[in-house]
Amino acid sequence: MYYKLGKIPPKRHIQFRKKDGSLYYEELFGNEGFSSDSSLIYHIHPPTQVSEVKGFKDVAPKAAVNENITSRKIKANKLPSGSSYNEGKVPLLFNNDLTIGVSNPQSSLRDIYYKNASFDELIFVHKGNGLLKTFLGNIDFCDGDYLIIPRGIIYQIEFESKKNKILYIESNSPISFPKRYLSKRGQFLEGAPLSERDIKLPEGLNSNDEKGRFKLHINKNHKIHEVIYASHPFDVVGWDGYCYPFAVSIHNFEPITGKIHQPPPVHQIFEGNNFVVCSFCPRLFDYHPKSIPAPYNHSNIDSDEVLYYVEGDFMSRDSIECGDITLHPSGIPHGPHPGTVEKSIGESKTDELAVMVDPFNPLKITQDALSVEDENYFKSWLT
Ligand SMILES: [Fe+2]
Repeated sequence: MYYKLGKIPPKRHIQFRKKDGSLYYEELFGNEGFSSDSSLIYHIHPPTQVSEVKGFKDVAPKAAVNENITSRKIKANKLPSGSSYNEGKVPLLFNNDLTIGVSNPQSSLRDIYYKNASFDELIFVHKGNGLLKTFLGNIDFCDGDYLIIPRGIIYQIEFESKKNKILYIESNSPISFPKRYLSKRGQFLEGAPLSERDIKLPEGLNSNDEKGRFKLHINKNHKIHEVIYASHPFDVVGWDGYCYPFAVSIHNFEPITGKIHQPPPVHQIFEGNNFVVCSFCPRLFDYHPKSIPAPYNHSNIDSDEVLYYVEGDFMSRDSIECGDITLHPSGIPHGPHPGTVEKSIGESKTDELAVMVDPFNPLKITQDALSVEDENYFKSWLT
């Protein structure tokens, strides 16, 4: 969607002056060079003023398992809490297209500004509420929100809640809604499970006219560089365009149901290069008189499958807690646990809430994931 916030000149790339007669500083902010979505941003100070470049910290995920064909259950609730969202990130699964991890922040660091220069971020707020502050405006968030932050956005996350649970994805490619949901002009089609009214856009610019020392942590290729800016990173007076952060709640996803079991693509909410993200939401079950609500066994030979369990009783799984993550790798079919097919027959609805990520290239597994793994999970289909 085209969007504008604050004050902008009537035409791009022309003089736009402050009250004192000096110029605002225009910045073209986009991805994929000059060949994709962009926004035009107007700063009080030049966005180029760096006064110090400090060292960097390597946060690249390291593979403990490179080649995996084992179904796994990761008890992510057992992982420690972090001081803030960014400092508490624990990467669990990754490949060249994306990294999937969790963060359980207990507070916010208000004197550091963050920029992910290499990866678009999807932040799924399992538990927590607060304010995503960005240089393009603020977005209130709460339990169930997906926050999408394109690479390059300078941001801070301020939690109001003390105990927070986050599932995150860092993507090498832009994260967008599936193209099949959109018209030629980019409007959600009538059959899509979302509409424009479900999208939360940035509001209330932070136009700080301030010089000084402002600490940025910039993630470039999984290295966190510390850089000091000489003017406030949130100094934008206006912007317009198509490249900006936004949020959408999983609770606003409108499940598509049918007479018989519907396949996973009906649950899709986002896509990136070589992966999709799906939302499994409370819904009525199939209405054929002999329908089986539980899914059939399936051989996802072209993708690994990652499920993050949010709320409710997941009807096709046994012994799952909220916050658990399962990985069902390509190469082995997976399906309902023993007993769950019969149990599902006759049920009229489910209250399950889960996020699924299907990467099309195999995932590697970190030591942190292995440290909280249920090692017997892969045998849990044995009868
Ligand atoms: Fe599946």
